[in-house]
Amino acid sequence: MKKILVLNGINLNMFGKRDHAQYGTATLAQIEEELKVLGGELGLEVECYQTNCEGEMASRIHEAHGDGTAAVLINAGAWTHYSYGIADALGILQVPVIEVHMSHVHGREEFRHHSVMSPVVKGVVSGFGPDSYKLALRAAANLAK
Ligand code: DQA
Repeated sequence: MKKILVLNGINLNMFGKRDHAQYGTATLAQIEEELKVLGGELGLEVECYQTNCEGEMASRIHEAHGDGTAAVLINAGAWTHYSYGIADALGILQVPVIEVHMSHVHGREEFRHHSVMSPVVKGVVSGFGPDSYKLALRAAANLAK
């Protein structure tokens, strides 16, 4: 069974408590549970990881080289807009990476319009709330084939 690694970065453990207009009311645990169910339907193993520490996220990405990961979904939160460290870590991966955002980042503040992850990801799903993750998982299923 192909494994899809779902990574969530800084502040994303606070989904459910953050601005409901941007991020809705679902918690990260609920989103992850739904992804695991969808993964089961698609014949995929879904492993989820969240951290607020940039170095820990880089280390988890490094581990994906040897742990059977077939594709990565990442919502890097605010790191999306400035973390060359996370972008470089993703850039070393051989497997496809999909960038995910709950909110429609291009309709928000200017600083959210730029992603330093863009050069190293296959594509971006943004603006559909928890469905952003589900759409990205379906894309990952096709990429991992
Ligand atoms: C986010 C968008 C980012 O700009 C923001 O910093 C987040 C969440 C999203 O999922 O919409 O923390 O990645």
